[in-house]
Amino acid sequence: MSKPKLTLLGAPGAGKGTQSSNLVEEYDIDHITTGDALRNNKDMETEYGTPREYMEAGELVPDPVVDEIVEAALADADGFVLDGYPRNLSQAEHLESITDLDAVVYFEVSEDELLTRLTGRRVCDNCGTNYHVEYNPPEEEGICDECGSDLIQRDDDTEETAKERLRVFEENTMPVVEYFEDTDSFVTVDGEQAPDEVWADLCDAVEAQF
Ligand code: AP5
Ligand code: MG
Ligand code: ZN
Repeated sequence: MSKPKLTLLGAPGAGKGTQSSNLVEEYDIDHITTGDALRNNKDMETEYGTPREYMEAGELVPDPVVDEIVEAALADADGFVLDGYPRNLSQAEHLESITDLDAVVYFEVSEDELLTRLTGRRVCDNCGTNYHVEYNPPEEEGICDECGSDLIQRDDDTEETAKERLRVFEENTMPVVEYFEDTDSFVTVDGEQAPDEVWADLCDAVEAQF
């Protein structure tokens, strides 16, 4: 049987990364995340400059760069969860031209909650596990429970850059939500709930679509 092909839409901090990990474990699918791919190649020279310049300002990296990353990853994937793509209408059209999705899931979360989540997020420098200083703290402050490495704050999780990312989401990615809203594959999940409640709703949504 074929595996699910999914994309998660949601503002910065909506929980896309957190829930992607659950999906990968449950369905044994690939996690395709443009954010992590770009963070791992921040200083890659492209004809548009480096990803770092855009990411540290909270702006979108130019479409040709991300489209290429996604196309290469999809070519190798059986089932997948896309996390952070598409982020504008042009990327949405590109995606539809290269694959068929089983579900487009939108996590709805209020702006106040998003800012609290982003500024409190800490990430393992080594294995990438996500924490939150208040909602999901590690056993020992600043140290990863999984591998013992140091936790760091992402460069773009400062209040100023996080606010700019939320603005960019409203301007560029909300139109993508509206674009998929009327299609059969679209589902909204209340992302403001606790992580395990979000996961329960997400599972139901995926099972219903797939
Ligand atoms: P990217 O890395 O994709 O960041 P993002 O979309 O801004 O989203 P985040 O990773 O910040 O949030 P998330 O939804 O994954 O939340 P998480 O689960 O971690 O992109 C970064 C940059 O790369 C962009 O700004 C852009 O420059 C570039 N880029 C990427 N893709 C691009 C594209 N397609 N085109 C152009 N440019 C692109 O959760 C957040 C925190 O909340 C964590 O601390 C977590 O523990 C906590 N948390 C999660 N769920 C809950 C819950 N239910 N309750 C309480 N706390 C929770
Ligand atoms: Mg993420
Ligand atoms: Zn770790």
